[in-house]
Amino acid sequence: MSSAPRDQSRKPVTLTKLGEKKALGEPIVMVTAYDHPSALVVEEAGVDLVLVGDSAANNVLGYEDTVPVTVDELLMLSRAVRRGLKTPMLIGDLPFGSYEASDEQAILTAQRFVKEAGCDAVKLEGGGASVERAKAIVRAGIPVMGHVGLTPQTATALGGYRAQGRTAARATQVMQDALDLQDAGCFAVVFEAVPAEVTDLVMQHLQIVVIGIGAGPSTDGQVLVLHDLLKVHTGHVPKFVRQFADVRGEMLRGVEAYADAVRTRQFPGPEHTYSIPPEELERLQARPPRRRQPTYDW
Ligand code: KIV
Repeated sequence: MSSAPRDQSRKPVTLTKLGEKKALGEPIVMVTAYDHPSALVVEEAGVDLVLVGDSAANNVLGYEDTVPVTVDELLMLSRAVRRGLKTPMLIGDLPFGSYEASDEQAILTAQRFVKEAGCDAVKLEGGGASVERAKAIVRAGIPVMGHVGLTPQTATALGGYRAQGRTAARATQVMQDALDLQDAGCFAVVFEAVPAEVTDLVMQHLQIVVIGIGAGPSTDGQVLVLHDLLKVHTGHVPKFVRQFADVRGEMLRGVEAYADAVRTRQFPGPEHTYSIPPEELERLQARPPRRRQPTYDW
């Protein structure tokens, strides 16, 4: 399989650049990353936007869903990703409970993502009160990406992990949320699990960048969770995911091969082994270490 040549002269992705891409109809590529090796890979692959999503909760931290993940946990992962990125814009996801209570709380949390982790922007979920929080963060000088449709932090209130906007009333709400976030000054909005027809309709009214995940092809760009598209886990795969690789299979094959090589004494070989010069070995054998009384009696 061949891939496009890497453009070594790529410049950092800016808000202006995103606007230009939208105007030119050039699809914007966004993906999640939660650690340094992944950041190096997505950098080299030339993506435009990288999100340290709260989906780190279930993808790398072993939580059931995104609700328990903390600001400190996401900051630690964001710093690791920052150290691996040069060109994509880095977006930090504000976790559940870190921005909803007040504008002040939202600004302080967003500032931590910028100051302590080097994020270029933050993302928050939902319409309603989140619109006010987005407005406050934007006023504090931090670019904000909104997120409407299926918003995992409040999935219980939405009736579970299911497509949103499948009735006219719910679709109107999703569209209104997106428009409100645009008015609040968000530079972009994620549409998650929304019928393509609803996306098509609202796209006519949005001047900001729209990134889709299960929202059809008419958005300005697409986002997928890295661990979904690479197939790092087994289990349920949302309808909107296409798996472009089988990383879990490859990891399993690697670890099984390692275990087998150790058990059959095929590893380590001479090429993995250090040696000591013969004269030093002779000296050592002539003066073996003195045995001491064992400290522990195992
Ligand atoms: O946390 C996340 O991974 C997200 C994307 C699905 C947009 O919010």
